[in-house]
This record gives sequence, structure tokens and C-alpha cells, in this order.
Amino acid sequence: MDMFVVRGGKPLKGQVRVSGAKNAALPIMAASLMADGPITLHDVPDLVDVRTLSQLLGTLGVISERQADNALRLEVIDDSPVVADYELVRRMRASICVLGPLLTRRGRATVSLPGGCNIGDRPIDLHLKGLKALGADIRIEHGYVIATARKLKGARVFLGGSFGSTVTGTCNVMAAAALADGVTTIESAACEPEVADYGQLLNAMGAKIEGLGTPFLRIEGVESLAGAEHHVIPDRIEAATLLIAGAITHGEVSVENVCIDHLSAVLDKLNDVGVRIRIAEDPGGSDRSTLHVLPSEKLTPTECSALPYPGLPTDVQAQFMALLSRADGISVVTDKVFPDRFMHVAELVRLGASIHREGQSAIINGTEKLHGACVMACDLRASAALVLAAMAADGESVIRRIYHLDRGYEQLENRLNSLGADIRRMNDCEENVPVSLRLPQSIENSSSLTTSGHVEGAARLEDLRQIRVDSAETLAPLQSPAASKAKQEPAS
Ligand code: EPZ
Repeated sequence: MDMFVVRGGKPLKGQVRVSGAKNAALPIMAASLMADGPITLHDVPDLVDVRTLSQLLGTLGVISERQADNALRLEVIDDSPVVADYELVRRMRASICVLGPLLTRRGRATVSLPGGCNIGDRPIDLHLKGLKALGADIRIEHGYVIATARKLKGARVFLGGSFGSTVTGTCNVMAAAALADGVTTIESAACEPEVADYGQLLNAMGAKIEGLGTPFLRIEGVESLAGAEHHVIPDRIEAATLLIAGAITHGEVSVENVCIDHLSAVLDKLNDVGVRIRIAEDPGGSDRSTLHVLPSEKLTPTECSALPYPGLPTDVQAQFMALLSRADGISVVTDKVFPDRFMHVAELVRLGASIHREGQSAIINGTEKLHGACVMACDLRASAALVLAAMAADGESVIRRIYHLDRGYEQLENRLNSLGADIRRMNDCEENVPVSLRLPQSIENSSSLTTSGHVEGAARLEDLRQIRVDSAETLAPLQSPAASKAKQEPAS
């Protein structure tokens, strides 16, 4: 397993290009299940999640072929498989995006329930409610959703939930409605740019969808969907992460290939924090701009709430928290999409941040100085926040479990290093932990157990540990090494 060793304290400087959006590419790849011809997608980032979905689609009769310039060609060669197996789905929640396309195109879908997630509760009740409204028969058995329908029928669907609408749920119901009989209207549809991009692809395949990017969608079902070619939108979450990388290191960074319309809430909040950004629109008139982060000495505290689009994305909440940990005063961060998405707080505190939870919020008492430490990533965006904080911290840091990062960022350390960061990917073992982060012998000795009572205590402790290890070992044979490794953290 890999880890990062980061030497912090360097202001970043230079230019970097944003990749295609993971959260657009994944549902869009799943839509290929509905096409009566090849789908060619451009700007599909080379990510672990993209590879996992290609594997899953492979088990569902779709061949995916990587082509030059991050293009991906997908073609159905066998339209009989309908089972999305737990072994693949548990690695990546976005696998649920095969549910709608399978059901509407093949009349049946057996898809593993995604299971638990570190960022909070993530039910799929709205997905199922929408598909049932279109006439699907749905039951849950042995951890699988079993959905059947000879022919779906257009209907009125309300997709609003306690935390707003659902991004992948809107995609699933939109897909199902695209090949249904008659007209479907979706109210309280998700408005995220990734959902609109998904709809653009379906329309390019021959679907009839109106209202994309708004909470009200009208879908007139069609008989079949053809192959198509599509350029995936740039990744607004990656763009925000790179902008914050420049700001948190008081650096000067230019981020290219950005759709500024997708980043209004992020740019607004960065402005509140005092981050100076100059926007250079494409002289060629395309919707892609370059954003220049200018050095900003003082960061101003603020309050921010993660909300459904067009609000501040929950997927940049952790990165903003890292930035605000260096602001000059008290900030408050609340997440109204995933109220418990705060696993990164304790790790940022290890890097010297002063943060505590209060209900759905985190209270951040900004400090000028962060310092290096060993930390552990617990989900994709939390790991990005730890990289940002470690780059701003004095000294060296170790970030473990960076496999989370590889799921959603394409070679992030190489691009940050091209801006002057010092991030080394190394095998996660004791020898590779920098001396500066090893417990100095003096502390080790002063804290070791010397008195007789302590020695007895230690022996007892050792016995207890051995018992625990023994009982764990008796349990272990049930899981294959791969399974136990994968079981470490559920997919986000
Ligand atoms: C998408 O997840 C993204 N993933 C997430 O990004 C992102 O955090 C999330 O949208 C919110 O923006 C992909 O696009 C692959 P939701 P999704 O259904 O679709 C509740 C990342 O870091 N809800 O919009 O699974 C749910 O619990 C990932 O890239 C229900 O109650 O999220 C949550 O509180 C992490 N019932 C809220 O709605 C449902 O049936 C939004 O969830 C569905 C969702």
C-alpha cells in the first residue's frame, strides 16, 4: 500500500490543467448500457473508479477501450447479463448508476446495494421510488436490488429528499424514463452540472430531455438510443481543490480548463476568505477559462454551508476546512448534504489545526502555523484536504491510505509537484517514515514502562493483546487477502 511523504512550507507556483469530471464520467459510462452503437467519450480521467466501472460494465457485456487523449470507447457486445455483483459494487458506490440503464434497456436489473460509507448515511430510497413510479417491480433480497419491468411507463416523479435531491438518483430515473412509454416529469431533480452533462449525452444518443440543469425535467420516452460521441465536462471539484492548493500555500497558481459557471459558490466563498483570483476567459470564446490564484497573505475567517448545487459542494467542504484552519479567526463549516462528513477533523487537528465539532458544524479557530505529522485518509475528499494542509504545514508529514485519493484524482501528486510541491509516493512501511516524525528516543524512553507494577501491567496487556490477535486470526480465514484489503474502507 502507498503513502505520501510531504515536505510542506512551499508556496505553489505555476500552471495546471483540470481533468474531465469523475462524477460526470461514471454515470455517463453506465449509460452506454442503453446504446445500440458505440459511445466515444473524450476527457475521461484515468482513475481507479473509472477502471472499476469499466470492469463492472465488462461483466454486463460492455467492452471499454482506452484511446488516445483520455478518450474511452464503450460498446455493448452482449445485452443479456443483468447482475451487478457485490464484489465490484462494494468497491464503488457509483456502480448504482447501472440500475436505471439496465432496467429500462434489458427489462431486468439485479444490482448489489452499495453498503456503508464513511461520509455518512447514503440510502438509495429515492432511486427506487423513482423507478417504482415508472412501473418497475422492485424487491430487495440478499443485499441486492432486484428490479423488473416489461416496459416502463412515463409518470410524474418527485425526487426531493431530506437533504435535497439526489445526483445519481436523478441520473437513474432520467435513464429509465428515456426509453419508457410516454412522458415523465421529474420534480426536484438534482441540478448538478454532472447531471446536466449526463442528460446532454442521452440527448446526443437520441433521447428527448428538456429542463437540464433545472429542478424540473421533462422526458419523452423514445424507442431506442443510438451510439454517440461526447466530451465530459471539466471536474469542478478538482478545480476547487487546485485553487485551494494555491491559496493555502500563499502561492500563485493558474488553473486551466475550468467552467466558471460551475464554480460560482466556490469562487464566492474564496472571495469571502480573501483569496484573490483573476479570471482569464478563453479568447476563442469557449466556456473554458483559466483562473489565476494570486498570492494572498491574510486569510479571513468565514461561515460556509455545503448545500446541493448551486450551493457550495459538499465535496469541497473538507478542502475549505483545511484552508480555514489557516484563517485569522473563527470559522464555521456546516454540511447540509452529509451532516456527518467530518472524519477529516481529527486528522487536520493532528496537523496542528484547532477544530471541534458542534452538532452539524465544525468550529475552526484559525492558526497561522500548521505542523507536519502522520495522518490517515478516510475518504476521497478528506485525503485531498490532508494533502493541502500538509503542503501548508511546517516540516514533513506522512499521509496513509492514499488509495482513497487515487480513486478521484488523476496523478495529483505529480501535478502538485509540477507546481513546486514536495510530495513523494512511497511504500507504506516504517522505514519510509521520516525521522522527523518518529517518536524521539527520549520521549519513547520517558514514556516506557519501568516500575514493577507497570511491568506487570504491561505483561497483562500483552496477554490481552495476544488473546485478541488469536481470536481475530480464528475469524480471518473467512476473507481472502484481497477481500480483507478491500474491506478496509467501504467505497465512497
Ligand atoms: C454524488 O453522490 C457524488 N458521487 C458525491 O461525490 C457527492 O458527494 C454527492 O453526489 C452530493 O453532491 C457521484 O456523483 C459518483 P446524492 P450521490 O444521492 O448521488 C441523500 C465524491 O467525493 N439521499 O445526491 O450518491 C444522501 O444520503 C462523491 O466524489 C437519500 O436520502 O449523492 C445525501 O444526504 C462523494 N436517498 C443526499 O441525499 C437517496 O435515495 C445527497 O446524496 C439518495 C440520496
